[in-house]
Amino acid sequence: MRQTLVIANWKLNGNTALLKTMAEHFHHVDIQEQVDVVICPPAVYLKTAAVLFEPTGIKLGGQNCSEHGSGAFTGEISAEMLSDIGCSYVIIGHSERRAIFAESNEMIAGKIKQAQKGKLCPVLCVGETLAEREANDVESVIREQLETALVDADFDNLVIAYEPVWAIGTGKTATPEQAQEVHKMIRDWVAKKAPESAQKIQILYGGSVKADNASTLFHQADIDGGLIGGASLDTEQFDAICKAA
Ligand code: G3P
Repeated sequence: MRQTLVIANWKLNGNTALLKTMAEHFHHVDIQEQVDVVICPPAVYLKTAAVLFEPTGIKLGGQNCSEHGSGAFTGEISAEMLSDIGCSYVIIGHSERRAIFAESNEMIAGKIKQAQKGKLCPVLCVGETLAEREANDVESVIREQLETALVDADFDNLVIAYEPVWAIGTGKTATPEQAQEVHKMIRDWVAKKAPESAQKIQILYGGSVKADNASTLFHQADIDGGLIGGASLDTEQFDAICKAA
């Protein structure tokens, strides 16, 4: 049976005060048996987070890493650096990185390689836009994102997050059936590439997950947890999502 995984993606939000509130809360609430929890605050807070969350069992992740290992790349952060300060995960290829920062599938493939080389578990984000869904292109778009990003990847050290772009920050959640359909397609795709990993790999759903819809989503056969944006900034709401597993 796959363990449920809930990952908080704070994006460009949060501060030391929020880290302290969250850490204090989860210090007193034991959720670890039901679910693995990961917090991905902005990179500048990771070191503080590593200290604050140490007693909680909550793990840490970066929101991005460089496709390069080191060198003259001003402003970049390598996977190895994230690992060095206590991260276990890194989000790769989020749709905001693809759309706003022009990350191509090829760059994303480089980041996945660096993450795995740097002993991090990459969380590869895939998902279609509304126009692509309306054009019935969901399967081909996601296949292309998977095929290009996961060339030579280690499927035993990988999480895939399905985040339909039209559901991110919009309050429009995919129905559990819509999400399950895509998750199954992703798992079937993994089964062809790496048969032994298909039943082990965690596939998360992201896009307007809230306390009141998390449970139904997480209980779909191929949904193994969530990648949470807005709702992960509210301690009570995030706690309720973790408990929905
Ligand atoms: O990575 C999480 C994300 O993009 C979903 O954001 O705010 O819709 O939960 P949100």
